[in-house]
Amino acid sequence: MSAPRGEFTSRFGFLMAASGSAVGLGNIWGFPTNAASNGGAAFLFTYLILAFALAYPALMAELIIGRHARANAVTALKSISSGRGSTMLAVFIGFSGIITVSLILSFYAIVSGWMMAFFLDPIARLIGLDGFSQWLTEDAVLRNSIFVVLFMMLTVVIISAGVKDGIEKWASRLMPSLVIILVLLIIYVLTLPGAMDGLRAYLVPDFSRIADPGLLVDAMGQAFFSLSLGVGTMLIYGSYIGKDENLPTVGSLVALLDVGIAVLAGMLILPAMYVALGNGVEIYDAAGGLIAGPRLIVSVLPALFNTMGFMGIFVALAFFSLMTIASLTSSISMLEVPVAYGVEYHGTERRTAAAVIGAAITLIALIIVFNFDLLFDLVVTYTTEKSQPLLGFAFCIFVGWIWSRNDILAEIKQGCSGAESGLFWRIWPFYVKFICPVAILVVYFQ
Ligand code: PFF
Repeated sequence: MSAPRGEFTSRFGFLMAASGSAVGLGNIWGFPTNAASNGGAAFLFTYLILAFALAYPALMAELIIGRHARANAVTALKSISSGRGSTMLAVFIGFSGIITVSLILSFYAIVSGWMMAFFLDPIARLIGLDGFSQWLTEDAVLRNSIFVVLFMMLTVVIISAGVKDGIEKWASRLMPSLVIILVLLIIYVLTLPGAMDGLRAYLVPDFSRIADPGLLVDAMGQAFFSLSLGVGTMLIYGSYIGKDENLPTVGSLVALLDVGIAVLAGMLILPAMYVALGNGVEIYDAAGGLIAGPRLIVSVLPALFNTMGFMGIFVALAFFSLMTIASLTSSISMLEVPVAYGVEYHGTERRTAAAVIGAAITLIALIIVFNFDLLFDLVVTYTTEKSQPLLGFAFCIFVGWIWSRNDILAEIKQGCSGAESGLFWRIWPFYVKFICPVAILVVYFQ
């Protein structure tokens, strides 16, 4: 029934794909402002601890299940279940992950479409197409619809090409470009007046905030969304890792890359916001907090670039190419989840599965575009705040309570022969069994 499965050809390829999934819009418009509003380096410190103590164990759960089963989320969870109850739960969780990730992609594609439009804007201005430039940057249903379709087409084309020639090839090109653009932008922005105030707001710690429960909730939510957990993306990427690969090591590298790029992004965003402040741009919202999320990206930063004269055109081009890359490497990981299911479970050809599922998600995205005020926040909240944490919880339950401990160890030992005496095996099983599920529930009910 199933077509031959793809596999990443190198550790580098896997790392670029998985960190590409993790590094996305969340790292750039979420993490930096969250940090600056929540005690600066104190948030960073809390975030690092939570990312490694809670999100990393959950990430490992997905990678280990995926590589063991070498299958899509539904088949993989079924394969580690024993008995009727847990098999039914496996099917339910697998499908919930597929539906959740498809809905995340439907709103992500809208925002990614804005990033593409803002990326084309400086090019339009450079060649003197002022009317087109205005159309690109004005929020309108037609523009949003066209760019949703374009962005989804890009995603479908990459996924159609498969694991090695699509995901791995593109992530290996795009992720290093992202890091280079990010570093160049940081260097430039740090030379501008006011930038150091931003760096101070970002990095000077306010430890009085560290025991604040709100800070913990924010940091935990950020870590889970950022590592793309709960919806099967890391499971499916794990299923394409070679059996000779050391899973605890590659998992920690993915977490490190994700956190590292989020921290770097803060060194761009906060200084840029304070430069904008100096140039007369409003950076605080009505409640007195720093403007975050979409408004930061599509209104504060473009306003800053407009105050920079000719140089601003190039800075905008670099910044929105960075945003488009970050979106695309995340969106391909999302589309791969339902496509892998279609290919393996129903024997559909990859191209057909990618096109049909991509079209269905585009349709949902268009419905959201046409009913934006009603649906956008609803879909974001339902998927990222309600569904994703509960699914993350379910993955921990599968690995901590349902799957046999010996089978888990046997899987980890492939590629990590001394695993049973290593630090990872001494700590991780306890964490996924007790600490992670409890912590996720506590945060959920906050
Ligand atoms: N990790 C991505 C970000 O930080 O923007 C978002 C994401 C990607 C969430 C993939 C879920 C997912 F399956």
